[in-house]
Amino acid sequence: MIQDMEGYFRGLTPERSDLLKELEAQAKAEAIPIAGPLVGRLLSILTTLSGGRAVLELGTAVGYSALFIAEGLAPGGRLLSLERDADRAGQARANLARGGCTDRVEVRLGDAMEELAALQGLFDLAFLDFDKSLYEPALPHLHRLLRPGGLLVADNTGFSAARPFNQALRQDPKWREAHLLCFLPLHSTEYDGLSLALRL
Ligand SMILES: C[S@@+](CC[C@H](N)C(=O)[O-])C[C@H]1O[C@@H](n2cnc3c(N)ncnc32)[C@H](O)[C@@H]1O
Repeated sequence: MIQDMEGYFRGLTPERSDLLKELEAQAKAEAIPIAGPLVGRLLSILTTLSGGRAVLELGTAVGYSALFIAEGLAPGGRLLSLERDADRAGQARANLARGGCTDRVEVRLGDAMEELAALQGLFDLAFLDFDKSLYEPALPHLHRLLRPGGLLVADNTGFSAARPFNQALRQDPKWREAHLLCFLPLHSTEYDGLSLALRL
């Protein structure tokens, strides 16, 4: 095996734009939990693989992960990202404008659970990155909103509050899941769970 695997893999962290690096510095200074460059790149790849026509994000913060998802969208594809904190939603809109993504990303201010209940349409991919205790109650809505074969990506599934969600995915035959324990440089936190589930 490679010696010092953490150091080695840290050195393989994807290159990114000055804007993304600026948001990483802001996140560190202000303790804003962000997905980091590796999960960001993964989201970009998975968005493209999913078809990238319609993507849903729960938990925008200042738009860091949204910038990566936007990169992976198909031409004409759209990201709808939900955030309940007005200040963060405003910062996210400004950052997405700086990244040239205004035409394909909507940051919607509101409580994600209320929005989910009212939302219609079929999404290719959903990224779950809001209140971990709400992951499990959000699951039936996400099954309704994802197309068959659509992908659910859940961040921070190593948090205690995500346990009911992890268990529900495991037991529910309507999903085909994979729970990963990961080392993720610059992710909040660097050791964490990341779960993927195919909507059957
Ligand atoms: C981990 S941060 C999101 C990070 C972002 N996805 C990224 O990687 O750049 C979680 C965000 O979810 C928001 N949030 C928490 N509960 C929410 C809810 N019920 N509805 C909408 N947003 C919520 C918080 O305000 C916070 O900004």
